[in-house]
Amino acid sequence: MATDTGDPLPRFPAGFLWGVSTSAHQIEGAAELRGPSVWDVFTAEPGRVKDGSTAAVACDHYHRYPEDVALLAGLGVNAYRFSVSWPRVASPGGLDFYDRLVDELCAAGVRPVPTLFHWELPAGLDWLERDTAARFADHVTVVADRLGDRVTKWITLNEPAEHTLLGHALGAHAPGRRLLFDALPVAHHQLLAHGLAVRALRAAGARDIGIANSHGPTWPASADPDDVAAAGFYDTLLNRLFAEPVLLGAYPDGLGELMPGDVAADLRVIAEPLDWYGVNYYAPTRVGAPLGTRSEFGGLAIPAELPFSIREIEGRALTDFGWPVVPEGLTELLCGFRDRYGDRLPPIVITENGCSYEGLDDQERIAYLDAHLRALHAALEAGVDVRGYFVWSLLDNFEWAEGYARRFGLVHVDHDTLERTPKASYRWFRDVLRAQG
Ligand code: BGC
Repeated sequence: MATDTGDPLPRFPAGFLWGVSTSAHQIEGAAELRGPSVWDVFTAEPGRVKDGSTAAVACDHYHRYPEDVALLAGLGVNAYRFSVSWPRVASPGGLDFYDRLVDELCAAGVRPVPTLFHWELPAGLDWLERDTAARFADHVTVVADRLGDRVTKWITLNEPAEHTLLGHALGAHAPGRRLLFDALPVAHHQLLAHGLAVRALRAAGARDIGIANSHGPTWPASADPDDVAAAGFYDTLLNRLFAEPVLLGAYPDGLGELMPGDVAADLRVIAEPLDWYGVNYYAPTRVGAPLGTRSEFGGLAIPAELPFSIREIEGRALTDFGWPVVPEGLTELLCGFRDRYGDRLPPIVITENGCSYEGLDDQERIAYLDAHLRALHAALEAGVDVRGYFVWSLLDNFEWAEGYARRFGLVHVDHDTLERTPKASYRWFRDVLRAQG
């Protein structure tokens, strides 16, 4: 693994956004003060979450947000990406919490950057239903009307690709469906929800709007044409399917024909111009032709019947999650996007990047972040317009189907006492931000 060279990081442009990201379901707790989401239903089912835990308490951020905002201020970030829980907003008094949080952030000089959907759909709603997109736009209007006097930067959705794939195609996340390609309408309805949300935000006066999509380079397992074709297909499914409707107003490779509704009309909504494009980057994926058996990636089983298989990226250090550490994949991804989409690509913000490791003296995390920031700077030098970088995550939190077993935080959370303890990486990132001025 690339290690922290000890050399100071290169300078990033003035006005660069430096932040950390979290999401509501993963940190807030206080589940009794909001309606249930699909994640509450899912985690209540035996065997769904590896350690059998739930997010009912999580980091208790709902009650401890002043302490967490103080941690943000101590870190010196100028922005904080959090998410607004739809089931909480729909519950009496739920928006008051975000009102208080936004006030606290503004008082600390940290710019609030809310995500309006980070996977916790209110129980009873369903992304297979087109109407959910319209319901989401109503939720967005309610939030924007309340917070728009202080929030100036917005994110519509987090990773509709993962929510489709993990939640509806493979059944590893809520709502736990295993529909394989029949999950495609879930992608379309989320993309439609994104477009409707952009319109709702503009109607409420917002001017700085993006989406947080997960992307990574796809590497063919070999030069064999079958491997190359399988990798191309995977790239279409995980990268292009979610980028191109938004950026180009078109589905790649005829996938639009598999989508429900008046797709041409919907694409005009989905392609509402954005002010910036958020990229969550963790690692590339090495993909080959089907093997006839199931393959595995970071504990996730990929069924044999899919037209591709996931292969190991050899010779790389792995995070505790089993994800390979490939910093230069970020440069490759960003330069590739610039080459692929040209002037249709708005400025980019890295809305998530991070790694899971145990321990308070988390030198591996420091090395990971250091190397990825250098890789990001290389993309800037190559002419890619990148405006910000958010570390995933501020706190060790509820890592979805992994429960509390994976620790992504700059700040350690004792999940029994809820005590917060900054890790070595917190102090390292603070020093980076100070040096960047
Ligand atoms: C998600 C986060 C998640 C992180 C690490 C991203 O896919 O947006 O919610 O915790 O990756 O798995």
